[in-house]
Amino acid sequence: MAPRNRSSARRPLWIVILIAFVCAVGIGAYLYTPQHYTPCYLVSSNSCSSRPPPEPARVYTDDEIAARVVIRDIILAQPVQSKNPKIAFMFLTPSSLPFEKLWEKFFMGHEDRYTIYVHASRERPVHASPIFNGRDIRSEKVVWGTISMIDAERRLLANALQDPDNQHFVLLSESFDDPGPHGAGRYSDHMLPEIVKRDWRKGAQWFTVKRQHAVLILSDFLYYAKFKRYCKPGNEWHNCYSDEHYLPTLFNMVDPTGIANWSVTHVDWSEGKWHPKAYRAVDTSFELLKNISSIDESIHVTSNAKHQVMRRPCLWNGMKRPCYLFARKFYPEALDNLMNIFSNFTII
Ligand SMILES: *[C@@H]1O[C@H](CO)[C@@H](O)[C@H](O)[C@H]1NC(C)=O
Ligand SMILES: *[C@@H]1O[C@H](CO)[C@@H](O)[C@H](O)[C@H]1NC(C)=O
Ligand SMILES: *[C@@H]1O[C@H](CO)[C@@H](O)[C@H](O)[C@H]1NC(C)=O
Repeated sequence: MAPRNRSSARRPLWIVILIAFVCAVGIGAYLYTPQHYTPCYLVSSNSCSSRPPPEPARVYTDDEIAARVVIRDIILAQPVQSKNPKIAFMFLTPSSLPFEKLWEKFFMGHEDRYTIYVHASRERPVHASPIFNGRDIRSEKVVWGTISMIDAERRLLANALQDPDNQHFVLLSESFDDPGPHGAGRYSDHMLPEIVKRDWRKGAQWFTVKRQHAVLILSDFLYYAKFKRYCKPGNEWHNCYSDEHYLPTLFNMVDPTGIANWSVTHVDWSEGKWHPKAYRAVDTSFELLKNISSIDESIHVTSNAKHQVMRRPCLWNGMKRPCYLFARKFYPEALDNLMNIFSNFTII
């Protein structure tokens, strides 16, 4: 269906070998004691009395121990190797992308620094910009909130990892510990023993990862299998959505110091509805984008009755900087305004 040639959809041998190897030993366990921030560490209010008691140490399974070693000594130890490093932009979409023209503008002048991959799960997209031509990968149906979302993300990563120049992969996520029903409340004991409640994290689906982490995602089967079986929409599953929990929880467990803990894609939940605010053309002003791009604290309101406001500075290499690289959600009608604003938008 996609105009990509077949051979490019084949994984290079080393990935196959690596994945086979990692499959064989499984993924997981870690021998160190993770340091955990309790909710109150992040909370701006003073209700810090409910620190949970430490969980008893448990004996890790063989698979967990072996996988932990593979993650640390093979996957995370991989050196960055490319004379021409690129960023892979992976688009997960039902069909056509409304903002291709804007992306074209965004990429202009950076030819040879980026690659594009499109996973269109419903219908073949019509491309408005030539830079998207031929960039569709073989796709499968995606059902919101289910593991098929993760499968699509993995498919995008597998395709993008074939190009050794791709060193960074963009789709994006935050990693908050939310003690409320839409956070920790979605945890269930089915996740035991590998995933304990205090390791449970929530994030937006959109992420950016370095190459080592992309390989790690592809090679994880231990935790992936848990989420596939036990994290699903529906009451009996606590309305667990894999795309919001799998990666934040995985990385919080296996490489907690290697992640940002906030989403680099801005979205406005301040209206307190089921869906975040979507910007119409009239909302899409220079001021709006300036506001978004100057936010340097990530704020999360917990979903429990306390509605605690969790605030943390966005630290890039230890320096407080603007949090967001991207923003959503804009109606297609906002395109012209965005194009205009982008033309004379510079971040100081
Ligand atoms: C993210 O949180 C973990 C603790 O869970 C911490 O060790 C790590 O340094 C944090 N990352 C950043 C960039 O602050
Ligand atoms: C931008 O931020 C200022 C200051 O917080 C606020 O008064 C204004 O309403 C914001 N404008 C938009 C368009 O979000
Ligand atoms: C971009 O700059 C031009 C010239 O300064 C100005 O007229 C126009 O309003 C600006 N566009 C936006 C969306 O701010």
